[in-house]
Amino acid sequence: MSNSKESPKFIKACRLVDVPVSGSLKVDLEGTSVAIVRTAEGVFAILDACSHADVLLSEGEVEGCTIECWLHGSQFDLRTGAPLTLPAVVAVPVYEVRLSGEGDDTVVEVAASPTDFSARSNAVTFQAATKEL
Ligand code: FES
Repeated sequence: MSNSKESPKFIKACRLVDVPVSGSLKVDLEGTSVAIVRTAEGVFAILDACSHADVLLSEGEVEGCTIECWLHGSQFDLRTGAPLTLPAVVAVPVYEVRLSGEGDDTVVEVAASPTDFSARSNAVTFQAATKEL
């Protein structure tokens, strides 16, 4: 019998020191391109594709807890993936992040599946990603 509340599987994405402060790093997570974004408020993971025209979000500007698509300027909330400005109107999947290790050996691990906001608390995700910064 399986447990329906199993912890999500996490995948090692990169070393924290490889992610620029107030910037992002494009990583491949088992065939899925994900942008690892480091802000003053924590580390986030968002699918590396704008929901408006499928360009790389990892090439956009990071400001606060948002990333801005370089092509038409939509901003997305890194905590939820929700578009905050037009023209995008569809959320981009985000992934739970956790940090392991210490100092320069800190590793960014990303959940194998996007966060399901119908069942999970985003606040838990946010706290887990910031505890070792
Ligand atoms: S392609 Fe990202 S806002 Fe248009």
